[in-house]
Amino acid sequence: MSLYRNAIWFMNGIHQYTRKGYETASKDFEPKDVDVSVVGRSFMITGANSGIGMATAMAIAKKGGTVHMVCRNKDKAEEARSDIVSESGNMEVYIHIVDMSETQKVWEFAEAFKRQHLSLNVLINNAGCMVHKREVNAGGLEKNFATNTMGVYILTQTLIPLLQKSRDPRVITVTSGGMLVQKLIVNDLQSEKGFFDGVMVYAQNKRQQVVLTEQWAKAYPVIHFSAMHPGWVDTPAVSTSMPQFHHMMGERLRSVEQGADTVVWLALSRAAARKRSGQFFQDRASIPAHLPLAWTQSSAEENHCFMTQLETLAKSFTHNLM
Ligand SMILES: NC(=O)c1ccc[n+]([C@@H]2O[C@H](COP(=O)([O-])OP(=O)(O)OC[C@H]3O[C@@H](n4cnc5c(N)ncnc54)[C@H](OP(=O)(O)O)[C@@H]3O)[C@@H](O)[C@H]2O)c1
Repeated sequence: MSLYRNAIWFMNGIHQYTRKGYETASKDFEPKDVDVSVVGRSFMITGANSGIGMATAMAIAKKGGTVHMVCRNKDKAEEARSDIVSESGNMEVYIHIVDMSETQKVWEFAEAFKRQHLSLNVLINNAGCMVHKREVNAGGLEKNFATNTMGVYILTQTLIPLLQKSRDPRVITVTSGGMLVQKLIVNDLQSEKGFFDGVMVYAQNKRQQVVLTEQWAKAYPVIHFSAMHPGWVDTPAVSTSMPQFHHMMGERLRSVEQGADTVVWLALSRAAARKRSGQFFQDRASIPAHLPLAWTQSSAEENHCFMTQLETLAKSFTHNLM
């Protein structure tokens, strides 16, 4: 089955996830969708100093939004902020230094943000990693899971009350089409069983993000939730974590602006907000979160079991999270 899933996924990718795939899909885009001003609206973007996150921050700053960049490296964050401010002319760009893999720290940051800010209109969960060797964070959680799943869970869950108080609230999670090859696994969140394959752990985390998005949409109808795949984009994450793939794809990889396009559309446009909450998007369109005949759908019990485990883990790192 995994051979079938991988083959279908790769064929899809060659047609759709590349620069050419973007150019074809973008012929159907409505330029007016993102021709908006978002002065007075605030946007939090994790991993905003590089790649898709920085291109998103730049696009939103150019539309007048207040941008909260959540980054782990102060020097990189300041350099990116300086570029964003000088190119956009928007001074409302703020840096928050947080390592998204450190669960307790993410929670402390989100709690403080909630106390200090009256509103947050859009949260963009973009930071992500693919670590090939099994490592754990200060709390003993496997690093990919801690960053890609637990960090997203704690940040979003803690900020939900603030988002709910804000106008037209949205949560966008930058997942990956790689998740299409994975079914949710509920009995090994820490990847302790069997061979540790960082690529598949990453793909599993990205499936978890899609399930989270679906579950949140049901639980919090006031907020618009979406997950999206940016395509195959030329970023440091790809060149460092997948050097062979990066070399093989070369010029066929998308630019960061092309990769960020659907994030920006989901964050800014009225058209996106009219779509049903909880869906998976690619190139400004909602698409199925499962490949045909791949048997990757999880049951309601499995989803519940997953959410319960996250909640229990979160409680062990926080106080009164929910
Ligand atoms: N590029 C693609 O083809 C592709 C495809 C599918 C999905 N994605 C997803 O797109 C998102 C953005 O990645 P990218 O491709 O734009 O790569 P990128 O340019 O390397 O950006 C990744 C960002 O995440 C940050 N980050 C990673 N771990 C972090 C942590 N523990 N705490 C805080 N920030 C952290 C990085 O910070 P540093 O700069 O400090 O490392 C960087 O700002 C990721 O979620 C990735 O999984 C990318």
